[in-house]
Amino acid sequence: MSIGIHDISAATGSLVFPLADLADHQGIDVGKYHRGIGQTEMSLTTEDEDIVTMAARAVAPIIERHGTDGIRTIVFATESGVDQSKSAGVFLHGVLGLPNNVRVVELKEACYSATAALQFALGIVARRPGERVLVIASDVARYELESSGEATQGAAAVAMLVSEDPSVLEIEPVSGLWTDDVMDFWRPNDRSTALVDGRYSVQVYLEALEGAWNDYREGGGADYSTISRVCYHQPFTRMAAKAQQRLDRIATDGSAPEVDRLDGTTQYNARIGNSYTASIYLAFLSLLDNGPDLAGERIGFFSYGSGAVGEFFAGTLVSGYKEQLRAGHLDGMLEERRLIGYEDYRLRHIAFDRVGDFATADESTGDVRFAGVTEHKRLYERR
Ligand code: COA
Repeated sequence: MSIGIHDISAATGSLVFPLADLADHQGIDVGKYHRGIGQTEMSLTTEDEDIVTMAARAVAPIIERHGTDGIRTIVFATESGVDQSKSAGVFLHGVLGLPNNVRVVELKEACYSATAALQFALGIVARRPGERVLVIASDVARYELESSGEATQGAAAVAMLVSEDPSVLEIEPVSGLWTDDVMDFWRPNDRSTALVDGRYSVQVYLEALEGAWNDYREGGGADYSTISRVCYHQPFTRMAAKAQQRLDRIATDGSAPEVDRLDGTTQYNARIGNSYTASIYLAFLSLLDNGPDLAGERIGFFSYGSGAVGEFFAGTLVSGYKEQLRAGHLDGMLEERRLIGYEDYRLRHIAFDRVGDFATADESTGDVRFAGVTEHKRLYERR
């Protein structure tokens, strides 16, 4: 029996802020962003969007196509949770109108936890092959104004349906693992923006890649020559290029790689920015939508979450997967985003931390909106 990703879909915030405007405001050459970190824009959320509304938007086409039969588990991975106790997945379960006989949980480990969610989903389906699991990765990536991470903010959600006999990707059982207790990026309970030691985090990311790759190979993982593309966690797309250079160096005999294993994997991330847990699966969706037909080819995945955890695993693209995709769906959403300028961006950034009861302006474009807070309770409504 093969198990893996049966369907995948993504959504992003309704606003877009170009990095050229940020560079203008900072009085620096935009080349630092466009070429230096490989980012052109960042997606931002409106007042009435959050990780739950983006998740609802990502999952809607999956439910429309496959229904909800057999979905008995939702695993919601996020670093930017909306409640310290209640899973964002339970809010999502509510807005989707799913039946009560479903287990729902939220997972956290910076940008890594969607990969843990995927592994848990594979385990559940292996034990009960008729069941299907919804894996959600949804995040709003926020750093302080004027901080080194500011240009790498973003927002997106990816939803994946995990089942037996998948139509998109069969995931192999071998995983390479790496964990080390370090402080490269973290977000204490009293902050809505992350703290980051940016250059150190780049260094730890590469150490994690090397450690996870070595563990993958020692555990019987596939030879590098059989892996045609690698999807990386992309806090910024140049990070994937740095990671690819490192992997090319440690996994080969030093000869120049015959294929560009990043090809096709960075288009969405360059326009959306960091989306923490969703980022690596956006890279995968970018490859699916923008790359050539790679049916039968093995794809590698390197998932990284600061703090820090890394995992390398692989899967094979299923014959006919291209027919399962929704051509132009995410591109359309990217085009539809409303452009905002620096002043609006700055005011929205400052206004993000609202406390007490409030109602939000109706300004997003998805079917589900975050209406506000009443008596400390978050309210979501369908359009
Ligand atoms: N044209 C082209 N490239 C330029 C440039 C220009 N005008 N100006 C600078 N660059 C290049 C730099 O050479 C550098 O490239 P390199 O990394 O290959 O050396 C790159 O742009 C970034 O410049 P740098 O001065 O290192 O930027 P920074 O220190 O202000 O910020 C990060 C870079 C990654 C530290 C910052 O974006 C950050 O903190 N990000 C958040 C944390 C993160 O994403 N971590 C990753 C692991 S999860």
